Amino acid sequence: MKGDRDSFLEVHDLGINFGGVQALKNVSFRLDPGKIIGVMGPNGAGKTTLFNLITGVYKPTSGSIRLGGKELQGLSPSRICHAGIARSFQSGRPFANMTALENVLVGLHFGGGSGGLGMADARRQAGEILAMVGLSRQSDRPVSSLNLMERKIVELARALGTHPRLLLLDEILAGLSPLDLAPAIAIIVRIRDELGITVVWIEHIMKVLMDTCEHLLVLHHGEKLAEGSPSEVVADATVAQAYFGKKGGAGLV
Ligand SMILES: Nc1ncnc2c1ncn2[C@@H]1O[C@H](COP(=O)(O)OP(=O)(O)OP(=O)(O)O)[C@@H](O)[C@H]1O
Ligand SMILES: [Mg+2]
Repeated sequence: MKGDRDSFLEVHDLGINFGGVQALKNVSFRLDPGKIIGVMGPNGAGKTTLFNLITGVYKPTSGSIRLGGKELQGLSPSRICHAGIARSFQSGRPFANMTALENVLVGLHFGGGSGGLGMADARRQAGEILAMVGLSRQSDRPVSSLNLMERKIVELARALGTHPRLLLLDEILAGLSPLDLAPAIAIIVRIRDELGITVVWIEHIMKVLMDTCEHLLVLHHGEKLAEGSPSEVVADATVAQAYFGKKGGAGLV
C-alpha cells in the first residue's frame, strides 16, 4: 500500500460555474507527493467544490487536473478512484448498517484492490487497515453503534481500502471533542509517514493545519488567495484581510 513518491497533483486554471455562481475560478497549484497539504478558507470559499472536481463528482467548466502526469478530466469517479484518489466526506458517510470491517471491504472492492483476492485475504487486508487506524476492537461492530470519532475513522479506513496515492480529507475533525483531536491527527500523520500517502486536508481549525501541514492553500470566494508554508501564509496580509478584515500578519495561530 505504499504511495507513489513520484506522483503529484497538478491543477491548472480550474473553474466551475453553478448557474451563475462561480464556485471556483482560475485555481492553479501543484503539490509535491508525500506531504500533508492544508486547504483553508471561509465558508463557501470553494474547498469542497475543489474536492468534488478532483474526484470527478463535478465536471469543471474550465481547466485541468493531473495526477502523476495523467489527465483526470473526463474520467468517472470510479476511474479516478482507481487512479489513486480517495476522499472522506464533509458530512461523513460510512455505511451505518455494515460493520467496520465490511466498510473497509467496500473500499477494497471499489478501489479494485480486492480483484484476485480471496475473501479470507480481503478480510485480512481490511483487518490490517483497521489495526493501522486503531479500530481492531470495533471491527465486527455495526458502524451505527460506534461513536462519532470511530465512525469518522471507519470512513478514513474505507478510503484507505481503495489503496490511494492521494487522500482528500474534508473536515474530518469537525464535531470531535477536543480530547479526540490529537489521536485523530496522529492517525493522519501516520497515514502519510507509514503509507507514503499524500494528504490534502480541508479543516477549519487553523492551528491544527498550521501545526501539521507542510504546505497550505487558501481559497476565498472561489479563488486561490495564498499558498505557501504555514509561516508564509500567516504573514500574508491578504489572508488577514479575508479572515479578519484587517491589514498585517494574519495572526492565525
Ligand atoms: N451543487 C452545487 N450547486 C450550486 N451551488 C453550489 C454547489 N456546490 C457548491 N455550490 C456553491 O459553491 C460555493 C462554494 O461551496 P463549497 O461547498 O465548495 O464551499 P466550502 O469552502 O466547502 O464551504 P464550507 O467551509 O462551508 O464547507 C458556495 O457558494 C456554494 O453554495
Ligand atoms: Mg465544505
